[in-house]
Amino acid sequence: MRIGVFDSGVGGLTVLKSLYDKYPKNEYVYIADSKHLPYGEKTKEELFSYASSIIDYFIKQNIKLVVIGCNTICSTVYKDLENKYKDITFIGVIDATVDLFLKSNKKNVLVIATTNTIKSNKYETKIKDKNSSIIVHSLATPKLVPLIENDLDTKEEINNILSNYKDIDSIILGCTHYKLIEDKIPYNITCIDSSTGVINVIDKYIKDSTSNIKIYTTGNKDEFNKMCYKIIGIKAENINL
Ligand code: DGL
Repeated sequence: MRIGVFDSGVGGLTVLKSLYDKYPKNEYVYIADSKHLPYGEKTKEELFSYASSIIDYFIKQNIKLVVIGCNTICSTVYKDLENKYKDITFIGVIDATVDLFLKSNKKNVLVIATTNTIKSNKYETKIKDKNSSIIVHSLATPKLVPLIENDLDTKEEINNILSNYKDIDSIILGCTHYKLIEDKIPYNITCIDSSTGVINVIDKYIKDSTSNIKIYTTGNKDEFNKMCYKIIGIKAENINL
């Protein structure tokens, strides 16, 4: 079947990759809204309008299953999108990530994410609703997305972040871009990333078909392809939305 996946940039490619690895017999259409990146500090109105343009395009492509590969969209306008597009099935990353975290039985977690995601308090609320004894620290880490998009070194920034949280046993990478820095987190801290949980919840909607991946960016194709090719081995085309 045809599945739409989107994000502001390369972060959602980590979601696309998890999906493709588990369910290769599908036609994936990925949109990176690089023109509006980063989403992390945009207003709700802006985010709703960007996401709507992407979903309108997906609808024209006859797509009925949309994976929102972006925590920022999921934490701000998920419900509004569900209300607007009643015929679309949406899969978001936050609930799936919280489920994955709860299964880890960790007790002292740091959630790092964009400013919008942290402000929404979605991770903390959803975790505490299920288990109020878990200690949840939340931190907006807006410097990471531009570093990751440009393939720059994140080590110093990660060390700065972690230096204030000596007792944590786990970290939720609450932005899909952060999967790409997972290898920089010390091995004694369990990483829960937001790209892998979706494969557990999407299972019941999947119907096998032909295999295909098309990737588009609303921004500069050559810039985007440096990271895109590195992550998934495919080059993107331009799209105007
Ligand atoms: N990858 C996105 C997320 O999961 C958005 C990053 C951004 O554009 O700020 O929140």
